[in-house]
Amino acid sequence: MKEKLDSIKCAALESIAAARTSADIAAVRVKYLGKSGEISLIMRDMANVPKDERPALGKMVNEARGDVERALDEKGAELEAQEKAARLKAEAIDITLDSDGHKLGSLHPLTKVRRELIDIFAGMGFKVAEGPEIESDLYNFQLLNIPKDHPSRDMQDTFYVNDNFVLRTQTSAMQARIMTVSEPPIRVVIPGKVYRSDDDASHSPIFNQFEGLAVDKHITMGDLQGCLTTFAKKIFSEDTKIRLRPSYFPFTEPSVEVDVTCSMCHGKGCRVCKGTGWVEILGAGIVNPAVLDMCGIDSKQYSGFAFGFGIDRIAMIRYGIPNIKLLYENDMRFLAQFN
Ligand code: DAH
Repeated sequence: MKEKLDSIKCAALESIAAARTSADIAAVRVKYLGKSGEISLIMRDMANVPKDERPALGKMVNEARGDVERALDEKGAELEAQEKAARLKAEAIDITLDSDGHKLGSLHPLTKVRRELIDIFAGMGFKVAEGPEIESDLYNFQLLNIPKDHPSRDMQDTFYVNDNFVLRTQTSAMQARIMTVSEPPIRVVIPGKVYRSDDDASHSPIFNQFEGLAVDKHITMGDLQGCLTTFAKKIFSEDTKIRLRPSYFPFTEPSVEVDVTCSMCHGKGCRVCKGTGWVEILGAGIVNPAVLDMCGIDSKQYSGFAFGFGIDRIAMIRYGIPNIKLLYENDMRFLAQFN
């Protein structure tokens, strides 16, 4: 009996040593320790052993069982660890692979310039206002001294909604709105979209304007000049100069057109300024007393200055953008350059 037990134990330990997978170990466990396993069967043979030998033999069987169990556990743990390592290796994700990268958004160049403009004028005490893009003929034209059928309406190719409403052609419409509801002193800038039936490399049917209005006692052309000089230096560069040329707008008298020294060549003359050293950027003037009076402000007590320019044009000069359409196509290849 003892020899039989020894040989079973040896065979079991050999099988365990030879096992290559955790499944092999499970099979060995069943073969020797399972219900009808070889070591379990020996226990049953105990009945045929003389009574006095039983305790010693029982002890031996238990020890053999313990040895085999320990060997199975150890080898089983070792094989399972190997199998787990192999599985993890096979399922591994290669985190060293380059990703597409995070795409960061950026502000539209028009938004950037508009915010900068607002900052500049806020620093000079101007408030910001906005108004409707579908505007009545009254504010867009009549209160600005442009009666119906007046030839100056031809200066702007208007989209009419009906006889009395237009897509506003100029943010100047807001001057009239503001003056009819406020008392001087007034200092306000109005950024906003405007519309004209006009379409080429420097004109778009929709574009953005920036309007300014100051009404107070004793406002003069000198105030306008000082304000616009500060604006030009801040938006372009400290060495920028401005010059005022006589012009005509129905809502200002006198009216001027304002040029700045070319920010590309700093006044020397180049392709951008067509060799003149100057670039035209805006229209301005002293608010026509007739406009003040029509809007309910006493022109004998008060005077004002006003100006208006295209935010698009400032952005184009600032960033060297050759075609206004680039600002409205939303082509990511263009916009991503303003990161
Ligand atoms: N509204 C004019 C335009 O769209 C620009 C302008 C000129 C605005 C003179 C003004 C001004 O406020 O005083 O061409």
